[in-house]
Amino acid sequence: MSGQVLTDTHCVQQGTFYLEIWGCQMNVYDGARLADLLRACGYAQVSSPNLADVVVLVTCAVREKAENKVFNQIAAWRHRQELKQGGLLALGGCVGAELAAQALAHPAGIDIVFGPSTAHRLPELIRRCKETGAGVAEVVADSLEKFTALPAPQVEGVSSFVTIMEGCSNLCSYCIVPYTRGEECSRSVEGILSECRHDLESGALELHLLGQNVNSYRGVYADGTPCDFPTLLYEVAALPGLRRLRFTTSNPMDFSDELVEAFSELTVLADSVHIPVQSGSDRILKLMNRRYSAASYRELINKLRKARPGIRISSDFIVGFPGESEEDFKATLSLAQETGFDQSFSFIYSKRPGTPAAELEDNVPLQVKRERLYLLQETLELSAAALSQALVGSIQRVLVEGPSRRDSGELKGRTSQNRIAVFKGPASLIGQECTLKITRSVVHTLRGELCEV
Ligand code: SAH
Ligand code: SF4
Ligand code: F3S
Repeated sequence: MSGQVLTDTHCVQQGTFYLEIWGCQMNVYDGARLADLLRACGYAQVSSPNLADVVVLVTCAVREKAENKVFNQIAAWRHRQELKQGGLLALGGCVGAELAAQALAHPAGIDIVFGPSTAHRLPELIRRCKETGAGVAEVVADSLEKFTALPAPQVEGVSSFVTIMEGCSNLCSYCIVPYTRGEECSRSVEGILSECRHDLESGALELHLLGQNVNSYRGVYADGTPCDFPTLLYEVAALPGLRRLRFTTSNPMDFSDELVEAFSELTVLADSVHIPVQSGSDRILKLMNRRYSAASYRELINKLRKARPGIRISSDFIVGFPGESEEDFKATLSLAQETGFDQSFSFIYSKRPGTPAAELEDNVPLQVKRERLYLLQETLELSAAALSQALVGSIQRVLVEGPSRRDSGELKGRTSQNRIAVFKGPASLIGQECTLKITRSVVHTLRGELCEV
């Protein structure tokens, strides 16, 4: 793939860096690419902060808890004297973008601040910081610049993330992402396809396309012809060597019929899709500015299940949104009960500075929010466990990721429904596709035995 060639003059040579990544898959992608860049610039990655000349933190701001986590971590390192004397601390990701230059004054002692769109400038920011001895903050750049400035990704596993767009313009009333990652911006079709080809040629079997709302992808071909998300899926699906295709995340608001149709036509599309509903109450969805109703969500799920029988749907939920009544919550609970979601995420609403919802009166007591979260998670847990159990006895193709975490004599792979399956097999299968007969389901993990197709 094309990437700007990095010369020595761009780079500080022979330092060490330690990298931690918090947050969503888009941060995982950014962090991995940042590690590729730092290595290309002569930095060696180390496994502990006390060995690092630069500690790099790629952070998440989506909830207050996520934001506090990074500052607590820095404070703990400082308290235990686990940071190298004279080393630099670089704060990036969404908290970097949110706080910008203010972060330099934070008692955590931060030297460099960057955001999701300026990650590729980190080597230059380190150089400036060392030269001047003063803190530097740079969080604003063209959000697509990084894709051409970063070196080709180092593919390490059987599955590769490919970010297809940056930012979000949906402005859900509770969400900080449009302010930290900026307005929606789509990568070119060629840029995406060439990165996908590179990843497949480097050993990936699965591609996972990323964006805050992939449905609103609006890219262009080299000749300027527009390309929407379903069209992009057909382009990626045609690439040689691809065994499985996933995407995250889809807003139900603009999940088109063409996209539903893709699930019946493209067999390479995985048997699972993440479609966050957030709430089952139309009143709350309106306050959240989600622009769909509980009924249209149900209708979408029915269409998808017709297009791809057996498809697994997962979701995100927010409980305790300002003004959420018992009746609103019951609507969420019954939507969860009747839909039968697979492994989903649920959170207590967190007030984010600068978002419209932060102006609403938050009149739901914390204890009530906790009880609602508990009830919802119990329901979600039951349906995810039942869906796992339903796979027992079935034959599944899995992409083998590596040794199992619990027992290194066993392997783990992922099924099309996005479940981990553990089985006995030779290490030579790592990075390959194989077939399993599923013999057991233990909580959410499947156990299987190798079998012939
Ligand atoms: N773009 C994705 C979501 C990205 S953020 C989408 O719209 O589906 C991931 C999840 O974090 C959201 O789906 C939501 O459930 C949760 N979230 C976002 N802001 C939040 C807040 N202020 N409080 C609690 N949860 C929040
Ligand atoms: Fe946030 Fe909504 Fe955009 Fe998702 S779609 S990132 S929840 S503003
Ligand atoms: Fe967090 Fe930013 Fe992702 S706020 S969820 S890391 S887009």
